[in-house]
Amino acid sequence: MLHRDLREQNRRSWDAVVPAHHSHRPGLAAFLREGGLTVFPEELELLGDLAGATLVHLMCNTGQDTLSLARLGATATGVDISGEAVARARELAEQSGIAARFIQADVYDWLAQAVAAGARFDRVFCSYGAICWLPDLDLWARGVADVLSEGGRFTMIEFHPTSNMFDPAWRFSRSYPSGGRRLEIDGVGDYVGASGEGLTPGGFAAGTQTFQNDEQAHLFQWGIGEVVTALALAGLRITTLREYPFVNGERPFTEMRALPGRRLGAPEGSPELPLMYGVAAIRCATATATG
Ligand SMILES: C[S@@+](CC[C@H](N)C(=O)[O-])C[C@H]1O[C@@H](n2cnc3c(N)ncnc32)[C@H](O)[C@@H]1O
Repeated sequence: MLHRDLREQNRRSWDAVVPAHHSHRPGLAAFLREGGLTVFPEELELLGDLAGATLVHLMCNTGQDTLSLARLGATATGVDISGEAVARARELAEQSGIAARFIQADVYDWLAQAVAAGARFDRVFCSYGAICWLPDLDLWARGVADVLSEGGRFTMIEFHPTSNMFDPAWRFSRSYPSGGRRLEIDGVGDYVGASGEGLTPGGFAAGTQTFQNDEQAHLFQWGIGEVVTALALAGLRITTLREYPFVNGERPFTEMRALPGRRLGAPEGSPELPLMYGVAAIRCATATATG
C-alpha cells in the first residue's frame, strides 16, 4: 500500500514545521562554512571513506548532513518531499559555499525515476527518522538496491524501534513496532527546539516558541527485522548491523542522561536499551534490477 494521500499530507506537515526548526539554527551556515560537520561518528564509520564517491541522501530534510558529507568528499545529492526543506537546503549550500544538488521529490517517485534514467550512486544514505515515513519497505529497498552501483554501499542510521515503546516520560507503553502499522500524530513537532544544543552544533537560538503543527502526520511502524529483511530480499548483502545504547542529538524523552559528544542515554538509574541502530549493506552483482 503506497498511501500517496498520506505521503502528501506528511509533506504538508513537514512544510509547516521546517521554518520553526530553521529558527533555532541561525549559525548553521557559518558553522558549515568554517569546516564544522553535523554528522556523527556512527554514520561516518558505517559510510566509510567518501572521497570521490557519488552519494544520494534520501529524505535529507534541510540538507545539513548532505552538505557535511559533501564536505568530506562526496558528490552529494539530497532528496526530500518537503519544498520548504529543499529551499532551506539550497540556501544553506549557497551560504556555506559547499556544493550539493537538492531535489524536491517523494522518495518512491524519485527512486522510480532515477532507476528508469539509469542513475547509479556509490552510496545511498538515510538517517534519523526516515524509515517511519515509508508505507512499503520492499519497494523502497528494491529502489535503493537499483540505484546503487555494483559494489556500492547503502548506509542508514535510525532511532531504534525499541525506543518507540516508551512514552516521553520513559514509561513502557506501546508494542514493538511492526508490519508498517500506522500511527497518526497531531503533526511533526518542533523537536529541534526541544533538543536544544543537541541538534544545533552551530549554536542554539530560542527562535519560534510554542510551535503547534495543525497538519496531521501519518507514520508507519517497522521493526529492525523487517527493515533488514527488505534490504536482503532486494539483493543487498548486509555487512553490519549495529545497536547503540544512546541517541545522537535528539532528546526524545524528558529525562535523559547526558553523555559526551551530544549523545543522550536512558534516564539515570534505568537499565540500558538500544536507542539507535545502523546498517551497512553492499550491492553485489546478483541484486535484481526492477528498472
Ligand atoms: C526526520 S527528517 C530526516 C532528518 C535528516 N536525516 C536530518 O538529519 O536532517 C525526515 C524527512 O523525511 C522527509 N520525508 C517524509 N516523507 C517523505 C517521502 N515520502 N519522500 C521523501 N521525503 C520524505 C521529510 O520531509 C523530512 O525532511
